[in-house]
Amino acid sequence: MATLLDGKGVSDQIKAEIKEEVAAMVARGEKRPNLATILVGENPASHTYVNHKIKACKEVGFISTHLQFSEDISEEYLLKKMDALNEDEEIDGYIVQLPLPDHIHKEKIIDRIKPMKDVDGFHHLNFGRMSSNLPCHLPATPNGILELFRRYKIETKGKHVVMVGASNIVGLPMSILLAKGHNPGDATVTLTHIHTVDLASHTRQADILIVATGVAGLIKADMVKEGVIVVDVGINKVEDPTRKSGFRIVGDVEFEEVEKKASYITPVPKGVGPMTIVSLLMNTLDAAKKTYS
Ligand code: GUN
Repeated sequence: MATLLDGKGVSDQIKAEIKEEVAAMVARGEKRPNLATILVGENPASHTYVNHKIKACKEVGFISTHLQFSEDISEEYLLKKMDALNEDEEIDGYIVQLPLPDHIHKEKIIDRIKPMKDVDGFHHLNFGRMSSNLPCHLPATPNGILELFRRYKIETKGKHVVMVGASNIVGLPMSILLAKGHNPGDATVTLTHIHTVDLASHTRQADILIVATGVAGLIKADMVKEGVIVVDVGINKVEDPTRKSGFRIVGDVEFEEVEKKASYITPVPKGVGPMTIVSLLMNTLDAAKKTYS
């Protein structure tokens, strides 16, 4: 039986710490941190994620400012709105929820965010600084996973980490962070992706397996070794007629069977998801405190 890496519990603890710090800032006469969220279109999953972020802001005493735009907004208009946020001293940080509609160039949007306000850590300057171990905003999901490792005192030095999924948001930055001399870091990292041949031959070698593919139940018990530490980033909606809603949320790992071989494992939900949100709050607090200016 594996020990559960309780992202929900850890994130609640961190939120309590942030709330206390915000109260102290306000008591000193400083302004409350303010996180703005931009959402373009009506993607239901994106709405849910953004609502979770807004709710988390309220829980810790941040101000949240939401900008909702219709699906057919022009790229130019969005860039103008971002310029206004970049200049607005009341806004400490902001995020543009992805994905964006096809007619809007994601990279152009990401590069318009003022790096100090880029609390998602997506801007190419932040990505480059991260890769060189320089102070920056780290991307939320990888940073949340590092924080879980820190709080559970999971040693990564010299371990073999196998990362499944090489996205710009999770897999790629996660591999860089764990390979470098960060804390935690200094691991030997294998980065696998959609073109990897014989995925199982890699995953079976993992001391630490991190999976972020969006493929429900991709990782089965025969793909991992005894004692593996498993981090499941997947959030997949699958049909379940036994539920009132008609669906349930599962990860990229077959939890029931893999848990029997693992030493530690994140549940889905209540594992990595809440850590991603709290990581965004930590970055916003850093932005408000001008930690990297
Ligand atoms: N879409 C999926 N994950 C994320 C995230 O962490 N940040 C933003 N902005 N969009 C996302």
